[in-house]
Amino acid sequence: MAEPRRDEQARRFSALVAGRLAQNRWTLVAGIMAVLAVHRLGGGSWQLTAAIIVILFAVTAIAPRRTRGQRKADRAAAADRNGLDGLTAQSLAEAVGDPLVIFDAAGSAVHANEAALGAFGVIAPGMSMMMKFRAPEMQSLFERVRTGVVPSAVVDYSERVPIERVYRVTASSIGRGTGLFVVVFKDQSETRRIDRMRADFIANASHEMRTPLASIAGFVETLRGPARDDAKARDHFLQIMQNQTARMARLIDDLLSLSRLEMKPYLPPGATVDVRLVLQSVIDSLGPLAEESGVVIERQFADTPVELRGDRDELFQVFENLLENACKYGQSGHRVTVSIETGTAGGTEVAVTIRDYGPGIPEEHIPRITERFYRVDVDTSRAQKGTGLGLSIVKHILTRHNARLTIKSEVGKGATFTVHLPLK
Ligand SMILES: Nc1ncnc2c1ncn2[C@@H]1O[C@H](COP(=O)(O)OP(=O)(O)OP(=O)(O)O)[C@@H](O)[C@H]1O
Ligand SMILES: [Mg+2]
Repeated sequence: MAEPRRDEQARRFSALVAGRLAQNRWTLVAGIMAVLAVHRLGGGSWQLTAAIIVILFAVTAIAPRRTRGQRKADRAAAADRNGLDGLTAQSLAEAVGDPLVIFDAAGSAVHANEAALGAFGVIAPGMSMMMKFRAPEMQSLFERVRTGVVPSAVVDYSERVPIERVYRVTASSIGRGTGLFVVVFKDQSETRRIDRMRADFIANASHEMRTPLASIAGFVETLRGPARDDAKARDHFLQIMQNQTARMARLIDDLLSLSRLEMKPYLPPGATVDVRLVLQSVIDSLGPLAEESGVVIERQFADTPVELRGDRDELFQVFENLLENACKYGQSGHRVTVSIETGTAGGTEVAVTIRDYGPGIPEEHIPRITERFYRVDVDTSRAQKGTGLGLSIVKHILTRHNARLTIKSEVGKGATFTVHLPLK
């Protein structure tokens, strides 16, 4: 094993020496000529001249192939080939998707990229950064970086107008002694919103659980104490406790349903469903509730199949919740209509509309109604055994189906929920 390696090393060394001799050949020839000339003129010994020539050869063979200057020039040429030389601060700033502003030691803006102009409006060259961003945390950030207290610093900054936005802002000095600084804004609004939603969700879920639990605990205490021997009261309290446990079970089912939907965001390929049949079975299953609520469900669709890509059980859940809501909350209208419109949106969609003639939903609640646990009137919903999760499950299922829900309502005249399902 050692022999071939040694051979290889020897071969590389010879190639290196030959390369260096070849590269410096003219210097070598000039050197030899000079030595010979000195020998001839000065008449020194041949041995000394030969020794000098041998040394000349040796030095040439080990001299670096390229001088430092050449290497620097080569690096510069390589950088030029990479295109870095043609790069300007502006082009670099524009390529950054986050808002970015370059400012100088006086705290005046030098350049703001498109994203910065889009997010913060006018930032003209020369404009004072301290005047543009007046929040104390931003003032301190600029000050510390500009005066060289720290080379870079990070703060959280929020804008309230026109909409609330939260940024993580980093300011740093550019290079050494350029007198320029850069500030980059990373939008954290979405992350914050999701964090807040998660915290709200846990708070809401625990609250929804705690209410029936507290009521059950209270009745258990009463049954063990003052109502111990009261058979009538016992029956009544046990009935309430049963209702409360049913409510908790419903809540857990809804929560599990939501988390299962979150786990499988895409629809399996090839699943098709006849929407008309799904709607018919939902109407049949909600017959008793409608009757109990004094509501007549009017079927306004033909008996022809309406097939599209979708999951039968999930779409059943969607229409069941919408129709159940219409019967429960639109009870006072005594009438609910269910219709199918094919070929909407230029023939690409099927629209299923469930309409009631009850009290309707005030406009300000409509954008929030599909949020988890959101209820227009908490007491009415609780009285109807609602958990406030129905419409958020609907929204999740529709997202999986690449479908949309639109809600229209006029207070006092009822509410219209339309599911737009894509045909392909
Ligand atoms: N057709 C409607 N008319 C008036 N208000 C409605 C209607 N549909 C829904 N709402 C309001 O929207 C809220 C949210 O509905 P959602 O279906 O998400 O929850 P829920 O019905 O309270 O509970 P769940 O569906 O889990 O039983 C309801 O509490 C109710 O205030
Ligand atoms: Mg509901």
